[in-house]
Amino acid sequence: MTSSARMRDIRPFYVMELMKKAHQLEAAGASVIHLEVGEPDFPTAEPIVAAAQNFLSHGHVHYTPSLGIPELRRALADFYRTRYQLDVDPETIVITAGASAALLITLGALVNPGDEWLMPDPSYPCNRNFARLFDGKVIPIPVDATSNFQPSAADIARYWSPATRGLMVASPSNPTGTILSQSQIAALWQEVSDRSGHLVVDEIYHGLTYGVDLASALAISKDIFVINSFSKYFGMTGWRLGWMIVPETHLRDVEKLAQNLFICPSTIAQHAALAAFAPETLEILEKRRAIFSHRRNVLVGGLRALGFEIATEPQGAFYIYADCSRFTDNSAEFADKLLMEAGVATTAGNDFGTNRASTHMRFAYTSDVAKLEEALSRIKRFLGQ
Ligand SMILES: Cc1ncc(COP(=O)(O)O)c(C=O)c1O
Repeated sequence: MTSSARMRDIRPFYVMELMKKAHQLEAAGASVIHLEVGEPDFPTAEPIVAAAQNFLSHGHVHYTPSLGIPELRRALADFYRTRYQLDVDPETIVITAGASAALLITLGALVNPGDEWLMPDPSYPCNRNFARLFDGKVIPIPVDATSNFQPSAADIARYWSPATRGLMVASPSNPTGTILSQSQIAALWQEVSDRSGHLVVDEIYHGLTYGVDLASALAISKDIFVINSFSKYFGMTGWRLGWMIVPETHLRDVEKLAQNLFICPSTIAQHAALAAFAPETLEILEKRRAIFSHRRNVLVGGLRALGFEIATEPQGAFYIYADCSRFTDNSAEFADKLLMEAGVATTAGNDFGTNRASTHMRFAYTSDVAKLEEALSRIKRFLGQ
């Protein structure tokens, strides 16, 4: 029995595989500190849990409209008004099964076989596989610390070909935590729209920025596809809920895909998320943001002291993308040894592309400060310092 030819090109999400290995070690009694996990360690905020319990107690857990329940689409429009001072038509807000579904639907609606899509390298790995799933071709834009690990307008001019249809970026980015300013996004949009292309901006780490608040790319143009999620800032990873804001021209296509691929997002999660914007929830989330900020400072300082190079301080998300060339030119092997010999799980650069991947690793500060400090001393011992 043969699989489809495209499966040869679909790569595993290595961090999920490493997590599996770490959990196996733990099941066998080993102590592992998790710096690989891309999700907040906090429980879901209590008002969200209470809203879910209340909804569930009535037992009416049926399908919802494919684009999501109108109350949640309206609540998100209100959220854009208060947080970003932006008027967004709730009809253009589509609720999805996480940002993952939003990204899949977006590429499903936009990618023709053979189309080229520009994506920074390093960047979130699943996007490359989604593009491949629709027989698109990803053209990586190598980015490094000199450009804050983000592509520039000049890069677009350089890498765009007659076959290119679009650009995907994330701000803050995974794995680097670096951001694009509003003027940088505007310059990217200028280049892309001049070429009649599409721009997809993943804002999943909005809210988790330190010392800076970001505007939404939507303020630049309603023709930009904006992706977001309840997973990160709202701390609802396992609920599988996200959203996208779709240019009106593509709403019908997005709806058709949402209907066929998912029928609807999780009903319980949607009703729970109605409590996500309540002042008491936002207060909890803002306290957590301050905790992440403190953790970031601890881990950036600690890693630098050990000899990891962090050229640009990450301003968002909960990741540090560090140059480990002082210790290895094979970060995958290094990450494996760190796990097996020191009990510290990290993510090697090869999950995020090929550009200098073997000399970079991602450290997530999704564990508390005591664990981060213990991880730092384990790494120190491992390095023989
Ligand atoms: C940049 C980025 N986009 C999308 C996702 C998918 O998130 P979810 O499907 O949980 O909303 C992630 C998860 O780590 C991510 O880092």
